[in-house]
Amino acid sequence: MTDGACDVICIASWNADLVSRVARPIARGETLMAHSFDIQPGGKGSNAAVAAARQGAKVGVIARIGDDDFGLMALALWTKEGIATQHVEVAANERSGVAQILVYDDGDNSIAVATGAGAGLGQANVGVACEAIRACKVVMASNEVPMAATIAAFKIARAAGVTTILNPAPAVTLPDALIALCDVLTPNESEAQLLFGRGAGAIIVTLGAAGCAIYQDGKPAQTPSCAIHGWPMQVVDTIGAGDTFTGALAAAIARGEPLAMAAQSANAAAALSVTGRGAIAAMPTLAQSQNLKKS
Ligand code: RIB
Repeated sequence: MTDGACDVICIASWNADLVSRVARPIARGETLMAHSFDIQPGGKGSNAAVAAARQGAKVGVIARIGDDDFGLMALALWTKEGIATQHVEVAANERSGVAQILVYDDGDNSIAVATGAGAGLGQANVGVACEAIRACKVVMASNEVPMAATIAAFKIARAAGVTTILNPAPAVTLPDALIALCDVLTPNESEAQLLFGRGAGAIIVTLGAAGCAIYQDGKPAQTPSCAIHGWPMQVVDTIGAGDTFTGALAAAIARGEPLAMAAQSANAAAALSVTGRGAIAAMPTLAQSQNLKKS
């Protein structure tokens, strides 16, 4: 598949997730026996791209991976999910990104990311994809890719009237110049505090099981302009729930839903995503998340 006609372009990180399930957080210097171990697809960007594709959007990734087995795993996944890979650089003699993840018995997790080849994603990768960016409807990124790549992509998108969405995770200090290029930010509660009042178009704060809240114009507010309830789900793990929200939001905006409706769609997709193991196993199709939305 080529990405000339994509609805959504993701400036994407890719990680192979090395997931151990343990009873509880490990203390410094402690060894704890794990219940299980698995290697699963991950990376905040790739996860969001898969979520958007399962929601029916035509998706392309701009990414940099290593020429190792984990890089092959990324290409196989993206091909299976119908995601365009023509702007994926396979870096010779470099390792792909990996994330070491501990999932606790309560479904919560801790993650350490080594970005590998993804650290080399830059303006050059974005530059060669500029026509695809101009032709799409939504460009999304996260803080897991180098900021220079995100800024370059969002500048092209803004000039072309393409909607930009940034998942500001993991939390880092963002320059005002980048925030001003964001039409929508999708932080969790702890990430949100650094972002209010700094010029983003809208901030949608994800609240886990409690749903999400929309703050228009990115201004601090006592009450959000719209609060969207969550659903009580049987949580297996929460890996990738925020990424699912961002990807499903991008897909909904790309198919023309107004922001509040798109946030409801994203909220339903993210709720379903926590019912399976790892980042992508339970990411829903559009029909599955619309059924939950109606309930
Ligand atoms: O948001 C979850 C993701 O964070 C995981 O898939 C892991 O790869 C890290 O990037």
